[in-house]
Amino acid sequence: PVVGQEIPHESAALHVTGTALYTDDLVGRTHGVLHAYPVRGEHAHATVTRLGVAPALDVPGVVRVLTADDVPGVNDAGVKHDEPLFPTEVMYVGHPVAWVLGETLEQARLGAEAVEVDYAPLPSLIGVTEAIAAGSFQGAQPTVRRGDVDSGFDRAAHVFTGEVEFAGQEHFYLETHASLAQVDEGGQVFVQSSTQHPSETQEIVSHVLGVPAHEVTVQCLRMGGGFGGKEMQPHGYAAIAALGATLTGRPVRLRLNRTQDITMSGKRHGFHAEWRVGFSQDGRLEALDATLTSDGGWSLDLSEPVLARALCHIDNAYWIPDVRVNGRIAKTHKTSQTAFRGFGGPQGMFVIEDILGRCAPLLGIDPLELRSRNFYTEGQHTPYGMLVRHPDRLDATWSQVLAGGDVERRRAEIAEFNATHEHTKRALAMTPVKFGISFNLTAFNQAGALVLVYKDGSVLVNHGGTEMGQGLHTKMLQVAATTLGLPLSKVRLAPTRTDKVPNTSATAASSGADLNGGAVKNACEQIRERLAVVAAGRLGVPAADVRFHDGTVSGLGAGDMGWDELVRIAYFQRVQLSASGYYRTEGLHWDSSTMQGTPFKYFAYGVAATEVEVDGFTGAYRTRRVDIVHDVGDSLSPLIDIGQIEGGFVQGAGWLTLEDLRWDTSDGPRRGRLSTQAASTYKLPSLSEMPEVFNVSLLDKAHEEGAVYGSKAVGEPPLMLAFSVREALREAAAAFGPAGVSVDLASPATPEAVYWAVEQARAAH
Ligand code: MTE
Ligand code: MOS
Repeated sequence: PVVGQEIPHESAALHVTGTALYTDDLVGRTHGVLHAYPVRGEHAHATVTRLGVAPALDVPGVVRVLTADDVPGVNDAGVKHDEPLFPTEVMYVGHPVAWVLGETLEQARLGAEAVEVDYAPLPSLIGVTEAIAAGSFQGAQPTVRRGDVDSGFDRAAHVFTGEVEFAGQEHFYLETHASLAQVDEGGQVFVQSSTQHPSETQEIVSHVLGVPAHEVTVQCLRMGGGFGGKEMQPHGYAAIAALGATLTGRPVRLRLNRTQDITMSGKRHGFHAEWRVGFSQDGRLEALDATLTSDGGWSLDLSEPVLARALCHIDNAYWIPDVRVNGRIAKTHKTSQTAFRGFGGPQGMFVIEDILGRCAPLLGIDPLELRSRNFYTEGQHTPYGMLVRHPDRLDATWSQVLAGGDVERRRAEIAEFNATHEHTKRALAMTPVKFGISFNLTAFNQAGALVLVYKDGSVLVNHGGTEMGQGLHTKMLQVAATTLGLPLSKVRLAPTRTDKVPNTSATAASSGADLNGGAVKNACEQIRERLAVVAAGRLGVPAADVRFHDGTVSGLGAGDMGWDELVRIAYFQRVQLSASGYYRTEGLHWDSSTMQGTPFKYFAYGVAATEVEVDGFTGAYRTRRVDIVHDVGDSLSPLIDIGQIEGGFVQGAGWLTLEDLRWDTSDGPRRGRLSTQAASTYKLPSLSEMPEVFNVSLLDKAHEEGAVYGSKAVGEPPLMLAFSVREALREAAAAFGPAGVSVDLASPATPEAVYWAVEQARAAH
């Protein structure tokens, strides 16, 4: 079968030769395009008291200024209706209050500069702790609970408390937000958008324009990265472009430059957590009582589902008998924080991994031992009531990393190294991942596809998922080729469009291949069944005996025929050669009021072992070696999956060690500004931060029953393997102090943060 083959990404050659088309590349191929430029608020929080657009219209090349008065439908860009597209209240520094359309981008920019805006400044909340102190929250405040934490703490031999605040993350996709909108002769709108969620982009555009959804078509060619940042955030930009196009009759292009993108679009939520944890005498978790507060920014966006996933991942891979975890969303005057790879899962896991890392020395138990001792075992349920299936895979993965990573011997070497090096210390940490696959909200777990077989035997696949570099289209080609028994060369994939497959879910929650793969397979099976009847007639065998393999259709020993010939015959027999496919994940249920149910189809497991070396003078460090074993079921596409694991891990390590979002919290005129708004100040992992040795392998014999060709989702889970880097840094810092010292490590663990952790350890002497 074509699934499981090691093939490159379907667009790899286009990517590396610079010939792959992204939304904004279409501008050069479109006539008469107008450029949109934002007029941006200059306060963290202020009322707009006057908007003077007339001066902008005097700027040469300015065609129109878009304001709230132009909106024929709903002046809102979000699904929660708390995101006015043209606000009268500026809610963060850089919030766009109007948009200028110009013949050139520069003319639009000059026009935006000429717009006169008066503000009445209002008090603002920037940090999450400021918001907590002020009681500024938004949205639901759910609790996940099991058992009785008080009795859990009564049983516990050791009880610890702590508090931790950790930063969010900028998506820094290579392609910034981009939309290009056009109107056709009937006024229908066609929007090309860099969006993970074309159906919702369509929905918002139609709300803003006040037209039904069938008047709006959204297409996504591909994205130069999304990482969750294009799940909800593209809608408003698409709506501005669409509004401009309908008002002027000309194509409108909106593309944010990097600084605009960083300062206007939402990011991973930073969190604050307070916790109390109880352990038995032998280090088993007995009880956890925690309050997680996410920093939602100015509007809700996806903050509620992100928080729900955080609460559903605070257990990570560990059995905790009595649990109470409260969640709430702070409302602050910052960008509206949103989905980011892991979708709250990383923030939930952060808390438990931080707890275990801090408590292991206090319990006098080796962190490796403390973690594995608390793993789920067969028959146990998560705090939200879902059975943890296949916990043995967690054990298998853990043992494979221990063995393959030569962990025991290396830890002995590290101990020896540390004993003989006063100013440099090493450490090796291992952390597990258990990540739930499916959207928490059951309704989103559905997908559609449209598969077309042309008379010449070539196949065109449409499905509802979007390509953002993760290799979804590659996998869908493999699924279609396998189901139809064709070589890959027979199958082509079309760009994602809402007029081909309607009502799609976001390509998110790592479930793109599970859901769309199910739908593509379903469509191909319908076609194959019809063709089998035709072949059966020709070959003189029952339809059940017809086999499709590598372009040949055979009848179990009764001869064979080519696929192309069969398709031609079927056409003349008037057999339908196209099919729409549909898939929905069975067995899911979720009650968001009680936070109980089985929200996930299965869990993806993985384990990483990371060795670091820390310099005691500066806190600088390097990652000497990483060993990962990750469970992707029966891989649909091993090269793609390994790329996802490597990329996810490095992106997680960037979040936890390097990428530092700093908002100005001073009371001066810069209050609320993001200080790190360029690649010069916001540091992403680069080649020099790569692990010096990086071994990634897939767990064998991991067939997942009921998922497409036995595969498992891979997009997000590996990001959370990066906790091993943070825990290794903590342990290396601790090695500068006396044995058994517990070290707090700020996040991100920049060299500066590691330096302060080293100082904390030294001070314990
Ligand atoms: N990989 C690349 N190269 N680029 C991306 O933007 N997004 C991640 C992950 N891997 C992303 C990526 C996120 S946040 C998700 S949810 C999944 O891909 C989405 O795609 P999938 O469901 O097809 O795995
Ligand atoms: Mo991914 S954060 O679910 O787009």
